[in-house]
Parts: sequence; C-alpha cells; structure tokens
Amino acid sequence: MILVTGGAGFIGANFVLDWLAQSDEPVLNLDKLTYAGNLENLAALQGDPRHLFVQGDIGDAALLAQLLAQHQPRAVLNFAAESHVDRSIHAPEDFIQTNVVGTLRLLQSVRAYWQGLEAPARAAFRFLHVSTDEVYGSLAPTEAAFSETHRVEPNSPYSASKAASDHLVRAWHHTYGLPVLTTNCSNNYGPLHFPEKLIPLLIVNALAGKPLPVYGDGLQVRDWLYVKDHCSAIRRVLAAGRVGEIYNVGGWNEKPNIEIVHTVCALLDELRPKRDGSRYQSQISHVQDRPGHDRRYAIDARKIERELGWKPAETFESGIRKTVQWYLANPDWVAHVQSGAYRDWVQTQYASSHALICNDAP
Ligand code: NAD
Ligand code: DAU
Repeated sequence: MILVTGGAGFIGANFVLDWLAQSDEPVLNLDKLTYAGNLENLAALQGDPRHLFVQGDIGDAALLAQLLAQHQPRAVLNFAAESHVDRSIHAPEDFIQTNVVGTLRLLQSVRAYWQGLEAPARAAFRFLHVSTDEVYGSLAPTEAAFSETHRVEPNSPYSASKAASDHLVRAWHHTYGLPVLTTNCSNNYGPLHFPEKLIPLLIVNALAGKPLPVYGDGLQVRDWLYVKDHCSAIRRVLAAGRVGEIYNVGGWNEKPNIEIVHTVCALLDELRPKRDGSRYQSQISHVQDRPGHDRRYAIDARKIERELGWKPAETFESGIRKTVQWYLANPDWVAHVQSGAYRDWVQTQYASSHALICNDAP
C-alpha cells in the first residue's frame, strides 16, 4: 500500500480518488482534518476496503511509527500542509508547525521505518514530497520560467515554510540516503478546491451575488494546471522519477489574474445566466493588494516531459469549463464547506485588510 498524508484536502483527495480509480493498491490516508480537510471529498470511497482513513497529524511521531509498522507502505506521499498564502500572512505559526516541524517529524519517522526494511523493500521504497513553484520566488515579466535549478527565493511565510520543507527532504536524502522525490507544481484548479483560493472563490461569490475581489491591479501572473494533471504527474514521478531529483510540474498556462476572472464570469454567463440579465463581471471589485504579492510564476516543465514523458491532458479552456461545471453541479459541497469557520475567514480577509477600493463594473 501507499501512505498519503493530507489526502482529505484539495489535491490529496483528488489524488486518492484518481489512484483508486486506476489501481487496486490500497491507500492509507493520514489527515489532521484542519479547516481545509474534508471527508466529504472522499465520500465516493465510503465502504471501500482499499481506502483506510486515519485522522492524525504528520507531526505525531508515535502515531506515524505505529502506522508505518502496522501497514508497511512501499511509499509515502506528503501532501499535508497549510497551503493558503493569505492565511500565512495573518498567522504564520501554523505554517511553520505543519510544513516545517511536521515534515521533519514525518521524515524522521519514515527514515526509521525505511532503515528497518529488508533490502529489496528498502531499495524500492520512495518518499515523495509535494511542493510548490512558490519556493522560487517571483519572476520579472521577461524572465525565463522556473527550472529545477532556479534559485530558491521564497517571499511569503507560506513559501518560506515550503522551501524549508524542501530543504529538509533534500538533506534527508543526502545525509541518510532516504530515497526521496520532490515535485514543485504551479497553481492547481479543479473540483474540491476550497473556496478561499482565487478560482473557487470567484465561482461561489459570483453565484451568491457577492463582490469578486481582485488584489491590486489584477495583473499578477499565475501558471494554471488542472488538478487531475498534477495527480498524473505525481503518479508518474513516483513510478519512474530518479531518486533525489526535483521535478517541476506545470501546464504552460500563464495568465494574469484579471483574465482568469473574466473567463470565469463569461463561463457563468453562459452556463448559469443571471436572472436580471446583467453580466457577472459587474461584480468585479479591486481590493487592496496582498502584502509582498509575488508578481509572476511560470513553470518550465521540460524535465518531467523529457525524462518521464509526462504532459498535461487538459488545456486551460477545457479544465476551467469542467471546473465551473463541477461547482454548478455540487452546491451541497459548497454549502457544507462554507461553515462558521469559513465565514470568519472571509470576514477577516475581505472586510478589514482588503478593504474595497473600487469597482470594475462596466
Ligand atoms: P489543502 O489546504 O487543500 O489541503 C491540505 C490538507 O492537509 C488538508 O486536508 C489538511 O487537513 C491536511 N493537513 C494540514 N495540516 C496537517 C497536519 N499537520 N497533519 C496531517 N494533515 C494535515 O492543500 P492543497 O491545495 O491540496 O495542497 C496540497 C499540497 O500541494 C500542499 O503541500 C501544497 O503546498 C502543495 N501545492 C499546492 C498547490 C495548489 O495550487 N493548491 C500547488 C502546488 C503545490
Ligand atoms: O503556485 C502554487 C501555489 O498556488 C500553491 O503553492 C498554494 O498552495 C496555492 O494556494 C496557490 O497560491 P496563490 O497565492 O497563487 O493562490 P491564490 O488562489 O490564493 O491566489 C491566486 C492569485 O489570485 C494570486 O495572485 C492572488 C490573487 N487573488 C487571490 C484571492 C484569494 C485575488 O486577486 N483575489 C483573491 O480573493
């Protein structure tokens, strides 16, 4: 079996669902169920003996030792993290605790387990760490996209904590020989995305008749990848990646935020036109910028394509359409994640630090 951490979150849950749709190899899913973890994401696996869910913390060494000894996974895939940049600006400590200390404890537990394996299992074992393009910092408009050898220059508490975890993973390979793989992926979007992140926030706010908050001028650039393509890249790296290597994952889909906003609005105009005949773009509101906001990310994904033959299956156009359709088809999922805690966050983030500064309504 494989052990997945953070498998009740956005990417982890998509990964577990895809894994079990394609293979009968069981998954042990360890997730703390923070505000971002949601068992409803895994509802399709209820009663499936191939999926074993354990609520717990990657920082709990005793629990890890017990789970590893009992289930003897052939690989550990670490998705668990605090993942939202804006939250890291408000409350950085949780990010250090999970992303740095948690990864350290996970690495220590996995190392002890791996060292005790018989030679063939030891040789075949892999620790795959799921990381982000944000560790590379921000690009100037004409700079080449991030390659795996780009300097690491994180700018937010979130990206600094992820960079620290990447360094720990690297060190556990160089010092102890742990067979690690690291993926650094660009911005994901798709089903099960928690509506604190740009694309799902736009969809749920648009449908609720609320403002569509655009930070600053909206000309920041992100490189978007449909989540299922990220999952297929991780499966490919796990199967064939060279131990100790980093693989950048991206879809060659650089877009300024404001273009994303207009695309989502246009899709909603088509798929769920407003009763009063107005356009969703009338809800666009420019708000105060994110402190230290990275201007541009772009991933050079040539290594994973060249070495492992991986390419994304979706274009941005096909992926964003599927995403909007998924949110329209799943209003209950949206309603359930918009709990009291979610409302508190929206209040903190958009009522105080990001005061409305103007409206784009045509
Ligand atoms: P998410 O916030 O949606 O999910 C994180 C999951 O981890 C949640 O289920 C949460 O309960 C769990 N978790 C948090 N702390 C934990 C702990 N201490 N122990 C066990 N579980 C814990 O995040 P996501 O967007 O699915 O991201 C998953 C991973 O992919 C993260 O490592 C993130 O840095 C990385 N990543 C994300 C993106 C993106 O665009 N979302 C892009 C590249 C890389
Ligand atoms: O690049 C990979 C990273 O992508 C992941 O490592 C992170 O976990 C993930 O959250 C994401 O980080 P971003 O900060 O790029 O994603 P977010 O959805 O928060 O924001 C995307 C862009 O949209 C960013 O430039 C900020 C902007 N934005 C975001 C929100 C939530 C807005 O303009 N308005 C908003 O309300």
